[in-house]
Amino acid sequence: MNSNKITFIGSGSIATALANSVSSKIPDKIYLLSIEEEVIESINTVHRNNKYFPFIPLNHNIVATSDVKVLKDSDLIFIALPSSVVLNYIQKNKDSINEKAILINLAKGFGDDRRTIIQGLEDITNNPLATLKGPSFARDIINNFHTGLTLGMNDIDLAPPIKELFKGTNIHLDYSQDILGVELISILKNIYAIVMGIVDAHYNSPNLRFMVLTNAFQEMRGILKQFGGKEETLFNYCGFGDFGLTALNDLSRNRTMGLLIGKGFLTKDISDQVLLEGRIAVNVFCEEISKKHALDNFHIISELYNVFYKEQKVTTFVNSILNNN
Ligand SMILES: NC(=O)c1ccc[n+]([C@@H]2O[C@H](COP(=O)([O-])OP(=O)(O)OC[C@H]3O[C@@H](n4cnc5c(N)ncnc54)[C@H](O)[C@@H]3O)[C@@H](O)[C@H]2O)c1
Repeated sequence: MNSNKITFIGSGSIATALANSVSSKIPDKIYLLSIEEEVIESINTVHRNNKYFPFIPLNHNIVATSDVKVLKDSDLIFIALPSSVVLNYIQKNKDSINEKAILINLAKGFGDDRRTIIQGLEDITNNPLATLKGPSFARDIINNFHTGLTLGMNDIDLAPPIKELFKGTNIHLDYSQDILGVELISILKNIYAIVMGIVDAHYNSPNLRFMVLTNAFQEMRGILKQFGGKEETLFNYCGFGDFGLTALNDLSRNRTMGLLIGKGFLTKDISDQVLLEGRIAVNVFCEEISKKHALDNFHIISELYNVFYKEQKVTTFVNSILNNN
């Protein structure tokens, strides 16, 4: 039995869903550290998260709190915040964190200064770090569907408590020591999911869709390797699986953003978080690749850059990526 104390930072969809999965197996309290008073109140009184899953009863050993002191006692700390706030949050609260706790990053996206969240965390803290990524809609997890996640850790010797925590639940882990690759793929797959949305907004053709999907996957592989990730990581849950889920399923926010862009709804005043993160990621990758004079090898992302930053028409984008032999 896992006797580690578990805290999720955040009380949104993925924190609530994963906490509910693991709490069904262990008698101890599992904490959701939250800034949302109404969520704390609903979890602690009626055992539901009224904002994110109002109709799903939660296990009674899930406790919500706004008190960061809970981090001092925690052995496993899952970070389930928007990517843009993770580094600030940990910087601000690092003195409250048990120095031996493993920090497990769930957020997908760049941290700051063109680096992954894990690279940013390495500067802020000496805690052991891990990343957990995969094809995982929170809605499916909370409805107890089987879900595969990749646990990325440099020091795989620290994995057993996390492995033990998920054993016997609906969460199935595979493992990778390529923590950089796991983080990079979680950013890349969002970019190429936007591409698939744009293409699917123009054509309803399985042949065409899977031609572009294959080209996109190859491009992801090239960029991953160029940035220091390992090709083999693409065949973990965080790779092929998460790309497929994000690129092809309409529940995906990135694919949906692509569908909207494809239908002509990209205007300068859109301030959507998904679009913002996508634009930043495309810019970071393209600028870094340009420094190596290799942008010609990555036609799809460089054409998307033109859509985001040079007002290239979406139809030109689609024609260009379809006819790039
Ligand atoms: N690893 C995975 O498989 C997986 C799956 C889904 C989502 N995610 C990632 O997990 C993160 C959370 O996703 P979600 O769908 O749960 O989002 P969500 O919007 O449902 O929840 C976000 C949570 O962050 C909290 N929050 C926001 N700003 C904050 C701040 N400044 N300080 C403290 N708390 C703050 C909110 O109160 C909320 O509890 C995202 O980065 C997302 O990409 C990962």
